[in-house]
Parts: sequence; C-alpha cells; structure tokens
Amino acid sequence: MDRIAITGGQTLHGEIPISGAKNSAIKLMAASLLTDEPLRLTNIPRLADTRFLAQLLRRLGVVVTEWQEGAEQITVLHAAEITSAFAPYDLVRQMRASFNVLGPLVARTGHAKVSLPGGCSIGARPVDLHLKALEALGAHIDLHEGYVYAQAARGLKGAEIEFPFVSVGATEHAMLAAVLAKGTTVLKNAAREPEMDDLAQCLNAMGAKVEGAGTSVITITGVPKLHGATHAVIPDRIEMGTYAIAAAMAGGEVRLTRARPELIGAVTDKLIEAGVSVTPTDDGVIVGRDPNVRLKAVNIETAPYPGFPTDCQAQFMALMTTARGESLFKETIFENRFMHAPELNRLGAVIAVAGGEAVVLGVDKLRGAPVMATDLRASVSLVIAGLAAEGRTVVNRVYHLDRGFERLEEKLSACGAKIERLKGGEGEEEEAA
Ligand code: EPZ
Repeated sequence: MDRIAITGGQTLHGEIPISGAKNSAIKLMAASLLTDEPLRLTNIPRLADTRFLAQLLRRLGVVVTEWQEGAEQITVLHAAEITSAFAPYDLVRQMRASFNVLGPLVARTGHAKVSLPGGCSIGARPVDLHLKALEALGAHIDLHEGYVYAQAARGLKGAEIEFPFVSVGATEHAMLAAVLAKGTTVLKNAAREPEMDDLAQCLNAMGAKVEGAGTSVITITGVPKLHGATHAVIPDRIEMGTYAIAAAMAGGEVRLTRARPELIGAVTDKLIEAGVSVTPTDDGVIVGRDPNVRLKAVNIETAPYPGFPTDCQAQFMALMTTARGESLFKETIFENRFMHAPELNRLGAVIAVAGGEAVVLGVDKLRGAPVMATDLRASVSLVIAGLAAEGRTVVNRVYHLDRGFERLEEKLSACGAKIERLKGGEGEEEEAA
C-alpha cells in the first residue's frame, strides 16, 4: 500500500492551482442521468471518487469520455439510454455519494434499486432525509436486504419539503429529483453551501428551473425534459482552505490560483485571526507567514455554510498544535470527526478530546513519526503537521488522500516541500504504525 513521506522544516514558496470541487463534481456527474443528451463538464478533478462514480454511471448505461485540452480537463457524460437502474453495493460502498444516483434514476426511468451506503469512519451518516424527500415527491420506497427500491411509475410530483436540519446531500438529492417532477417543489431549510448553486446553475443550463440555490429556500419548477449543456465545476473551496492552512503551518508565501476565496471566508478569517497574512489577488489569494513568529491560538466551531466547514476542521487542528496558547474545537456536524487527534499526538501534539469537543494546547515543536488516518481530511491534516514536524513523517493509507486531493505531492513539492510517495511494500514505518 502506498505511503507519503514528508521531511518537515521546509518553508513553502510558489504557486498552487486549485482543482475543481470534488463534492460538486460528483453531484454534477449524477445530473447526466437526467437527460438523453451529452453533458459536458470542465474542471472535473481526476480523483478516485470521480473515477468510482464514472464506473457506476457506465454500469447504468452512461458513456463517459474524458480528455485534456491544455490545462482544461473535460468530461462528457452521455446517458442516451439508461440500460440499468441498479446501483450495486460493491460500487456504492466505495463512495457514499454514489447514493445520489437514486433520485435522478427514479426521475428519468420511474424506478431504481440502489444500495444503502452504510456508515463511515466520521459518523453513522444515515440517509433518512434523502428518502423522506423522495417520498414527499411521490416515490414509493421499500427497504429490503440493504437496498432501496424506489418506484414512481407515473413520475414524481412537486412538493413542499422542510428539512429538520441542514443536509448538503439531501438538499442536492431533492434538487436532482425535483427538476423533472410535475409542478413546483419548495425546499425549506435547504443547505446553502456553494455546491448547491453550482448544481442549480448546471441544471438550469440543462433547461431546469431552479431558483434560490445558495439560500435556505430553493424553488424548483418541474419541466418534462432536460437537454445537454456545458458547465465548469467551481473551484474546490476545501482544497483552497487546506493549502492555505498548509502554507500557514510551514511558513513562507504561497499563491493559490484558480480559486474563489470568497467561498471559504470562514477559514481565511480564522487564519488572519491567528496571525497569518491573506492577500486577495485576481484569481485567488497569497498566504504568507513568518516561520519565526508563532501563531496565536484561536477557537473553531464547525457549522453549515457560511460557518466554518467541518471539512477543514482537522487541517486547522494540525495548525493549532504549535500555536501559542489553547484552542477549543467544537465539531457540530459529524459525531466522530476527531480521529486525527490521537495521531497528531503521536507527533508530539497535546490534544484532549471529550465528546464533540477537543482542546489543543500549543507546543513548541512537532516531531516526525509514522501515522495513519481513517478519512480524507484527517489524512491531509497529518500531511500538514508533517510539513512543520522535525524529521520524517510517514502517512499510511494514502488511498484516503487519493480520493480527494488531485496531485497532492506534486502541488506541495512544487513549492519546496520535501514530500514523496513511497510505492507499495511494507516499510519499517508501516510496521511501527
Ligand atoms: C457532504 O456530506 C460532504 N460530502 C461532506 O464532505 C461534508 O463534510 C458534509 O457535506 C458537510 O458539509 C459530499 O458532498 C460528497 P450532510 P453529506 O448530509 O451530504 C446527518 C469530505 O470529506 N444526516 O450535510 O453526507 C449527517 O449524518 C466529505 O469531502 C442525517 O442524519 O453531509 C450529518 O451528521 C466528508 N440524515 C449531518 O446530517 C440524512 O439523511 C450533515 O450531513 C442526511 C444527513
């Protein structure tokens, strides 16, 4: 199994281009099921998660073609005919968001059988809100042997759906299903993450009528048919936040390009509060930090957008391990998202976790060690810690990083980080871990 080795202590100087947003790309790809014409998406990141979804879509009959034109990555998805409305466990379990094919399949074909995704390392992650939304739209839902059987032989009907709490996935799923429903759907207490607006813009380019995406009330007027379109995926705000935190951890000056910093203000505000300089540019930001001056400890509480994103909590915790003072972290979205804390402690951090809170007492220095993590953002937090740790840090289970960070080692080493991928085999470090 591959590992990533980092020799800490190098400041970062250079430029990092930000890729397309993973969490938007996978919902946009699912939208291709809604039309028999080609959907052309640019800026789809080449990641394990987008590959998993392409594999599932091909099984359903979608012809997926990918190529590169200069710096532009192009993906065309053509669902001329849905040849199967069955998403098997083996494919859905590899990437939970594959579950979002359920709504578009029912909307287009009137039926679907899709595996329940199950939990994951950060929490139980039920899909009850997704299923309630589809039921409200008139789908008949049965659960049997780990599968959802959904039927809407005469099509879906518009409905008013009020979510009891904010869910990114359920909001997107309801949007994907309601665009082809008869009548009007109103989603209340909808998620406001920028990915909602990206999905709505793509659906509207395909002929849908979605209004209010990005606010807590989304109105969808159903149309009988959608057509092909071209759409560019928004830049990945979490990737931008991650590299901004990495530059802050290592020190130096890094220009993040092809980015939309206004979508990640909650993270840049906290960086500034901690003493990092963040200067806006035409297409991103410059993040700078004097490595000889210690940052100030700040408190973090995760919240739905526009609050501090749970997907940057682990990375910011890594940054706070060497800050001056004590930081309090409150995780309010997922019930088990501090798995990185004991691993950061192996590098010399002092973090105490109790329930949904963690207290980080800043130390002078981290020291490299073999570590591992059980999810994508936790894994990258260990890479960030490794950039500043004295000596060598080896991060095991690199497949987590490959799910969500495009060319991570290449982007960081271009700025002077000493980072390399160790291919296969079981090294000394892995045994020690
Ligand atoms: C999306 O997950 C993202 N994933 C997550 O990113 C992100 O952390 C999360 O939104 C919050 O921003 C994708 O977009 C693929 P939710 P999602 O529905 O849609 C509970 C990453 O690292 N809930 O907003 O699954 C749920 O358990 C990933 O890129 C229900 O109880 O998140 C959680 O506690 C990790 N029932 C809360 O709501 C439901 O039916 C918010 O989850 C749905 C959700």
